Amino acid sequence: MMLKSIFGLFCCVQVIYAVRYHRFSGERVTPSELEAYRANNTLAKCTIDVTPCKKSERRRLDGSCNSLKNPSRGTVTVPHHRVLPAAYYNGNQERRSVSGKPLKLPREIRTSLLCEGISVNEHLTSAVPGFGIFSFGDVGTVHDIKFFMDNKTDCCTEKGQKDFLCAPNLIPEDDPVHRFSGIRCMNLTRPLDFQYFGCTKDPVPAPIEEATAVYDLSAIYIIEDNVGVPVRTNKGGELFVEVDNGIVWPPSGKGYCPATPAKAGQKCFENYSNALLPVQMFAVWFVRHHNYLAKNLAKVNPTWTDDQIYFTARDINIAYVQEMLVYQFLATLVGKDDLVKSGLASDDTGFRETYDPSAYPQITLEFVIIYRWFHLIQNGVAKMLDGEGNYVSEHRVVNSTFNAGFLGEDDNIVYLTQGLFRQEAAKANTGVHPDMAELGLPNLQLATDIITSDLHKNRLFGLRPYVDYVKFCFDEDVETFDDLKKRIPADKVSILRDLYEDPKDIDLMAGLWTEKIAKNAHIPPTLGCLLKDSIHRTIKGDRHWYERSKRPHAFTYDQLQEIRKASLANLLCAVGDKVEKVQKNAFLQISKKNPLVSCKEIPKINFKKWAQKC
Ligand SMILES: *[C@@H]1O[C@H](CO)[C@@H](O)[C@H](O)[C@H]1NC(C)=O
Ligand SMILES: *[C@@H]1O[C@H](CO)[C@@H](O)[C@H](O)[C@H]1NC(C)=O
Ligand SMILES: *[C@@H]1O[C@H](CO)[C@@H](O)[C@H](O)[C@H]1NC(C)=O
Ligand SMILES: *[C@@H]1O[C@H](CO)[C@@H](O)[C@H](O)[C@H]1NC(C)=O
Ligand SMILES: *[C@@H]1O[C@H](CO)[C@@H](O)[C@H](O)[C@H]1NC(C)=O
Repeated sequence: MMLKSIFGLFCCVQVIYAVRYHRFSGERVTPSELEAYRANNTLAKCTIDVTPCKKSERRRLDGSCNSLKNPSRGTVTVPHHRVLPAAYYNGNQERRSVSGKPLKLPREIRTSLLCEGISVNEHLTSAVPGFGIFSFGDVGTVHDIKFFMDNKTDCCTEKGQKDFLCAPNLIPEDDPVHRFSGIRCMNLTRPLDFQYFGCTKDPVPAPIEEATAVYDLSAIYIIEDNVGVPVRTNKGGELFVEVDNGIVWPPSGKGYCPATPAKAGQKCFENYSNALLPVQMFAVWFVRHHNYLAKNLAKVNPTWTDDQIYFTARDINIAYVQEMLVYQFLATLVGKDDLVKSGLASDDTGFRETYDPSAYPQITLEFVIIYRWFHLIQNGVAKMLDGEGNYVSEHRVVNSTFNAGFLGEDDNIVYLTQGLFRQEAAKANTGVHPDMAELGLPNLQLATDIITSDLHKNRLFGLRPYVDYVKFCFDEDVETFDDLKKRIPADKVSILRDLYEDPKDIDLMAGLWTEKIAKNAHIPPTLGCLLKDSIHRTIKGDRHWYERSKRPHAFTYDQLQEIRKASLANLLCAVGDKVEKVQKNAFLQISKKNPLVSCKEIPKINFKKWAQKC
């Protein structure tokens, strides 16, 4: 008691001066610049205050002080790294063909290269796009959907089409679907950038990143305007939850659920994302997982304070998702050997000193776009199965976008969970589910082609053509359409030849949609290369990356061995809904090599390794 009040007093009299940085450049703001920002009313949007860093402090939720040299780097509202220099026409307009003509409409390219229909992946489960989207949301955001639904709602009107912020998807007269509907335009906006907010005079458009660039479970330990949302109970190190029908949920309330039909009792998570069905599911599990960790830590350390438990549980939860991302998700997609060779993973279980103090956490602009390739393997229909894998029902995935209601009804989450690890993902590079291509945002928009928007965003973000990335990744020159045949099947090359005048015109996204899947991998090689490039930057730049022995509050070797048990199967057995059996690698389908096993056979974390020795 005594100690506490003295400490409290000490806190109040100590004055801590924050330092102000330019969000765009990461440099310190001088007093005269401060005045200029005040005068032109851009202070809040363009600059950020950072309280001085301590070398020994834990990871900050807002990402500041991750880099001690560049304290504001790693926070939200920052620019991305561009792997290759931007390609725009006239400074900030969409790139044109080599010959100077406008490229064909994104919708025409999408409908020509990707048919709509149902397909079945040979190896991957629907947990791949599911976890993929969840982990993407931790480091990257594309806020345009909210922007065109709430702010720029007139992009398809005559007036809107002249607005620089609008970039609607125009639909050709002979469109295979909309020739019958009369719809000629789908809403889409340009990414908001530092230029839009008047933060820089640099002419190259710099879209704004609104997520911290490290894998720190931003979806769970939410921050808003750089302040942690009070999702902590301040008791036993736990997060707030609500129990409903015996099921544990993050608290519901006034979240962003514009697509929820007005119906009593509909769930909408307050302070957590309601954007996409798999994101909602993983958010439920990782919130529960935090409390599961907290309860178990409290058991082995009965004297620990709320803070001690909370911070240790959070650190384990974040390490857990990092391990799962690299050693299970990425390793499944590109192969473990490939990850080791590229320096992203270790081939033993010990510590790995990955830190490069000259680097700072920053994802690439390319990463934000190419990640959208996973839309191709997203199922349109989520199967709902029982614990034996029998069909119970099904649910259209897009129906739950900005609408968590269905997840909260009855026992839906129990059956959706079984479906997640038992159902096949859609097949790569064959086509796309019609709901992804035409429905997109039901109850919110008449028609949305998510895949066409992916290609359009690729141009709005000013990415260079596909062949430049082939050169970057494999040092391979592509001069003619025939040169493409090494990487792209001949029939697709033939379609590309009709769509683009020159191979140097092909959009990166169009290349990824058609590229052959890599040997011993499940995704196209150029996608793998750019994914690895961005994630590697994150690992090297993250001072708090869990595999390092020299980080504040680092794990012991023994604790690290427990973190190595992280897997989707382990997560589902610990906190999933009535999961009793699961395959060891839940990203891969159940097979002879990957059989369904009892949860008892899935290694559990031994919390005794966190028991404090006297
Ligand atoms: C969009 O609209 C909301 C609500 O009116 C507003 O708070 C927000 O600042 C707007 N966003 C932009 C970027 O203009
Ligand atoms: C506002 O002032 C800052 C600091 O001098 C400057 O960098 C920025 O470009 C200015 N913005 C506008 C819209 O003039
Ligand atoms: C969500 O966050 C707000 C403030 O950011 C807080 O007042 C509210 O209590 C939180 N809601 C829940 C259910 O935790
Ligand atoms: C999708 O949502 C609509 C409107 O809420 C509803 O009428 C429909 O039954 C839902 N479909 C499926 C398959 O869940
Ligand atoms: C575009 O947005 C407007 C305003 O929200 C809406 O009325 C219109 O139906 C949308 N267009 C499509 C094709 O969904």
